Amino acid sequence: MINKINGLLQEIQALKANSAEEVEKIRIKYLSKKGEISQLMNDFRNVPAEQKRELGQMLNQLKSAATERLAQLKESLASQAESSKSEIDLTRTATPMPFGTRHPLSIVKNEIFEIFGAMGFTIAEGPEIEDDWHVFSSLNFPPDHPARDMQDTFFISRSAGDILLRTHTSSVQTRTMERQRPPIRIICPGRVYRNEAISARAHCFFHQVEGLYIDRNVSFADLKQCLLYFAREMFGPDTKIRLRPSYFPFTEPSAEMDISCHICGGKGCAFCKGTGWVEILGCGMVDPNVLEACGIDSKEFSGYAFGMGIERITNLKYRVKDLRLFSENDVRFLHEFDAAR
Ligand code: DAH
Repeated sequence: MINKINGLLQEIQALKANSAEEVEKIRIKYLSKKGEISQLMNDFRNVPAEQKRELGQMLNQLKSAATERLAQLKESLASQAESSKSEIDLTRTATPMPFGTRHPLSIVKNEIFEIFGAMGFTIAEGPEIEDDWHVFSSLNFPPDHPARDMQDTFFISRSAGDILLRTHTSSVQTRTMERQRPPIRIICPGRVYRNEAISARAHCFFHQVEGLYIDRNVSFADLKQCLLYFAREMFGPDTKIRLRPSYFPFTEPSAEMDISCHICGGKGCAFCKGTGWVEILGCGMVDPNVLEACGIDSKEFSGYAFGMGIERITNLKYRVKDLRLFSENDVRFLHEFDAAR
């Protein structure tokens, strides 16, 4: 009997099972009422009294070894099943990724690029941290011009050649003219800064696109035609433009351009305050002083320039009532432009 018990012990330790059915077969073979171990328990009755103690212990050990082995087999089957479950299922369709959307200012900026790009303008950029020369002096601002005032300009350092945050992208005009000879035909997009209290109608930063064309024999008529083309592409083929005399230090003559109100078609409404016109940009012929400041002969070359606010154009196109929405990045606002992307 001792041999039988030892033989079974070895057998049990070596048992393997690949399925729940196999585990059940093992249980039946060893541990069921008619199983091998139960048979031994029956035989135990006939064991002489002096061997009962030793054999009884061995039988108990055999039974618990078999029970334990069975539990181990069950557990390893379960964990195999679990780990095969957590494997990546490559047959599943991917979870759709939500698309981001373009910012409304980027949408309008790209549209401006396309319109002027078609007329041969290329993009030029310059730094946001600028010096007095490029933002003011080279652009013919007199030393006491109010734009230089602390109330308008964020100064970074007021030492010789003031360092400041640019208040307009006209600074890129002179930066380009300093390093490039005519013909020059550029648009300059970028962020500008002004020291203003933040409200629905004003912000301490906003975005502009500047335009500059310098060549021989450039006239005011060229400027007007270029801007008419832009207005019609941007606001529709029926758009009219009107130029009102104005003043900028860097252009002479200077003008402000209005477009016919695209909401009422020029009849007059609340949006255009009953006038039928809305202002969209400033422009003019580059002042000879500016050309000379950049080393361009003003007798040989002439040119025009214009500057517009991207927020302004976006407001006109999409009627955004509060400027602050552009920089708050509220996705509910941004998603309103999904279709325009
Ligand atoms: N720099 C002007 C501004 O910030 C806009 C402007 C007006 C730019 C007339 C020009 C221009 O180039 O000719 O208000």
